[in-house]
Amino acid sequence: MDKKNTYYITTPIYYPSGNMHIGHSYTTVAADTEARYRRLKGQDVMFLTGTDEHGQKIQRKAQEKGVTPKAYVDEIVANTKELWKILDISNDKFIRTTDDFHVKAVQKIFKQLYDQGDIYKSEYEGLYCTPCESFWTETQLVDGKCPDCGRPVEKTKEESYFFRLSKYQDRLIEYIESHPDFIQPTSRKNEMLNNFLRPGLSDLCVSRTTFDWGIPVTFDDKHVVYVWVDALSNYISALGYGSEDDSYFKKYWPAQVHLVGKEIVRFHTIIWPAILMALDLPLPEQVYGHGWLLIDGGKMSKSKGNVVDPRVLCAKYGSDAIRYFLLREVPFGADGSFTNEALINRINADLANDLGNLVSRSVSMQLKYFGGVQPADYTVTDLEAEIHDLFKEIFTKAEENLNALQFPTALTEIWKGVSRLNKYIDETAPWVLAKEIETNEESRKRLAGVMYTLLEGIRIISILIEPFMPRTPEKIWAQIGLSGKSDLTAWEQANVWGLYPVGTTVEKGEALFPRIDMKTEMEALEKLEAEMKKAAAPKEEAQEPDNLITIEDFAKVQMKVAQVLAAEKVEGADKLLKLQLDLGGETRQVVSGIAKQYSPEDMIGKKVVLITNLKPAKLRGIESQGMILAATKGKKLTLVTIDGDIPAGAEIS
Ligand code: ME8
Ligand code: MG
Repeated sequence: MDKKNTYYITTPIYYPSGNMHIGHSYTTVAADTEARYRRLKGQDVMFLTGTDEHGQKIQRKAQEKGVTPKAYVDEIVANTKELWKILDISNDKFIRTTDDFHVKAVQKIFKQLYDQGDIYKSEYEGLYCTPCESFWTETQLVDGKCPDCGRPVEKTKEESYFFRLSKYQDRLIEYIESHPDFIQPTSRKNEMLNNFLRPGLSDLCVSRTTFDWGIPVTFDDKHVVYVWVDALSNYISALGYGSEDDSYFKKYWPAQVHLVGKEIVRFHTIIWPAILMALDLPLPEQVYGHGWLLIDGGKMSKSKGNVVDPRVLCAKYGSDAIRYFLLREVPFGADGSFTNEALINRINADLANDLGNLVSRSVSMQLKYFGGVQPADYTVTDLEAEIHDLFKEIFTKAEENLNALQFPTALTEIWKGVSRLNKYIDETAPWVLAKEIETNEESRKRLAGVMYTLLEGIRIISILIEPFMPRTPEKIWAQIGLSGKSDLTAWEQANVWGLYPVGTTVEKGEALFPRIDMKTEMEALEKLEAEMKKAAAPKEEAQEPDNLITIEDFAKVQMKVAQVLAAEKVEGADKLLKLQLDLGGETRQVVSGIAKQYSPEDMIGKKVVLITNLKPAKLRGIESQGMILAATKGKKLTLVTIDGDIPAGAEIS
């Protein structure tokens, strides 16, 4: 099969999250831009994204909400899809790890690896970070906590299946060393080799028995497949690997690139290739690990004075502006900060001023000087020759950078063209030429040449920005008279100077990116931020107040009906009674602070509620083996007693 013209690009599959922030959009917007670019280049693109829905964390959250895990994820996945729509994400497929075909593929992969001896059963003892769903060794911990998220880890010991990762260590090192482009950027490659591969790999725990929201192991149903084997397999199960129809798999695998955040490069460049080697499948051409978008120096969790909800930002400024900001602001691969101020600055400087003004000024001048119609008779000079050369170079560099996933540098190149044209307006001063066009034919032709150069330059720029900003080109075309002229606005046509047809009529339109008043907008955003926090707060509280406990928490408290056999005052303590309680065969001694309200005689024969598994304590030197329940208000106290006939020792639940 000819693979030369196919391009398979993936994002990670996202953990279902109720509050997706702007950082979550980073991988997807980048991958979408690359996918759009490749399509414009005429490649047969498969762009995959999806959701990673299994695991203990999801199970716990669903439990807290009192819904099934599936119902819990269904709602979030719907919101995630909605967000991708708002951001114009053009994925060809969306995979959910709860999809039936995925479950079957994972089960098949697991069984095959087991049958061929790459997976074996043993016992796992280790440190587990539940939020990250990662196992760590003692030496990997940072200050005794999870090196990824800084939260505490739990010691676990359980029967588990293991994948023979260690067996693939040498092959992995060999592969990575002989394929310098496999892990990008290079710094991440060195990190993988030096920190993980060369020190040596341990076999990997690939099943769990402590929770059941996962893909069951077909031949041992106590076990569910450990999340990374489940999650990573999505890249091939989505193509039908292991199913009856694997034509997509044959067509698109191996992937050209898995685009991932830097914190999961390890899984994608060690575990995933090893699984593929075990399955005797080719490895993806590249894993690219991008950096993080930071808020207040952290990996964007709680924000301070910044609106990080991408929906809100898109509604306010348009998705193209948000996409532009994400891909322009920070060198791809490095970390960078998000602030409202940086966003507004970018929109004002690059979009409203540089690009927006270039288009609106050019259109206005064409209308004013030539009634909006490009004259056929025009002259050009050496200055225009220099601009042609620059635009040729920009096209080449934009492609080079897009080929290498260097989005910010590609945009920098494109904006060189924008700046050059703005400078060109100043250099040629069309308004000066315009004064002479009635009387001087040379000036008229010269002005027509200037207008042609501007509109032709704008045409090329409008094509080059399309992968990044899918909505803006059409708006520009409407203004420069190229709507529906797909033969003049196709990608390759950005590499040809001189296609803008003479006789084309421009049309004034709305500003592409209205200028934002920084002061007013920052105030508005801060107010909005405060409102959003306020709106979120009571809801949060209603849903999960800090003091709610789960049914498991409650079940830890064991209570029984206890009958008072004997009672006496405690010497020197006027509040305490010492009670002997019958628990249906077993006798317990309990010291209780009820002497002010109950005399020893009152107590004999009463049936009360005793917490039986409370750690024994000593009060005034007397051992108390449990606690009896009472209701209090101020100085009032009455015992919780048993209504009706039930023997001592009966359990309370
Ligand atoms: O890791 N800045 O899913 P995920 C930049 N399910 N990128 C960010 C970011 C930020 N502040 N926050 C999140 C998982 N991301 C696994 C993947 S793949 C087989 C399984 C990026 O929802 C993050 O780096 O935690 C990752 O690329 C993506 O969002 C999904 O992260
Ligand atoms: Mg993550």
